[in-house]
Amino acid sequence: MKVFINKVIPQTGLTLLQEAGISVTMWEDERILSREEALKFCLQHDAFLNVGQEGVDADFLEQCQHLKVIALHSVGFDNVDVEAATKLGIPIGNTPGVLNKATAEIALLLMLTVSRKALCLHKKIVEGAWGISRPTKDLGVDLNGKTLGIIGLGRIGAELARMCQLALGMNIIYYNRGTNPEAEKALGATKVPFDELLAQSDVVSVHTALTEETRGMFGMEQFAKMKRSGIFINTARGGIHKEKELIQALEQGLIWGAGLDVTDPEPAHKDNPLLYMENAVVFPHIGSATEETRGAMSRLAAENIIAGLKGEKLPYPVNPEVYAHP
Ligand code: DGY
Repeated sequence: MKVFINKVIPQTGLTLLQEAGISVTMWEDERILSREEALKFCLQHDAFLNVGQEGVDADFLEQCQHLKVIALHSVGFDNVDVEAATKLGIPIGNTPGVLNKATAEIALLLMLTVSRKALCLHKKIVEGAWGISRPTKDLGVDLNGKTLGIIGLGRIGAELARMCQLALGMNIIYYNRGTNPEAEKALGATKVPFDELLAQSDVVSVHTALTEETRGMFGMEQFAKMKRSGIFINTARGGIHKEKELIQALEQGLIWGAGLDVTDPEPAHKDNPLLYMENAVVFPHIGSATEETRGAMSRLAAENIIAGLKGEKLPYPVNPEVYAHP
C-alpha cells in the first residue's frame, strides 16, 4: 500500500505510517506542487495525505476514484469537494481537536498585538524612530474587562474565550447557528444575534468554518456596525471577510484595528496594503504551527491513512456518510 504526501510532515506521522508497513512517497522540495503534478502522483498511489490549502476539486476526485482515503493535515476541509468525494465513495479525514489551544493562542496574540499597537511600534524602532515617551502618544486600548464577541463558539472559539476570561476577565458573547450550552455554563457566555454582537463587542473574533453561508460574512456593512474602537480578528479562513472592504474600514477608521492569521487570497501578496497599515497585523496562517500541535496533526492524519488503507472506518472522518454509500 502506497501513500503520497505533498509536503514534508513531522516525524511522528511518518513513523506511524512506516511502522504500519505503508510505502511513503513524500514531496520534499520547497516548491509547491501544481495541481496536475499532485494528480500524477495520486494516480500512482492508494492514498493521499494532503498538507495545506491545496484544492481537491470534483474533477481531481473523479480522476482519483481509486484512492482508498484522502487525509488532510488540517481541521478545515473547505479546500475539498466533500460532496463529490462522498458520491465517489472516497473517505476524507481531518485533524480535529489537537489544534484548539495553539490556534486560540494565535488569536490572543493578535488581539494583544493589535490592541497595544505592538507591531507598528516595533517597526518604528527598527526604522530608528524610538521617539520620546509622551502621555498621549502611541496609546493602545485595554482588553481587561472588555467584551469578546466570538463568531462560532466551537472548540477553538471556546478555548479563546476561556483564555480571555481567565487572563483578562473579559465578558463573552457569541453568535452561532446552534447554541453551546456547555460553554454557556463554563464561561457564562451569552448567545446574541449577529448585529448585537457587532455592536457590543470590543473584540470580534472569527472561529467559524468557511462555507457558502459564512463566505464574505464581514464587509463594510458589518464593520460599520462594530464600535469604532473595535478590533476584528480572523484566524479561521480569509474568505470569511471581504479583504478590500476590511482595508477600507481600517482606512476610514470604522474600526480600531484588525489582526489576521488568514488572508484572501493566501499567501498574501507582498503589496497587500494590510501588511503596511499601522492598525493591521497579519500572520502567515500559523494557527497550528507549533512543534507539539503539528506533531499531533501528523499523528491523526497518519491514523486516518492507516485505517483507510486497511478498509476500516477513519477515526476522524469528515464525511462519515460515505460508509452508508453502497
Ligand atoms: C486548519 O487545520 O484548518 C488550519 O487552519 C491549518 O490549515
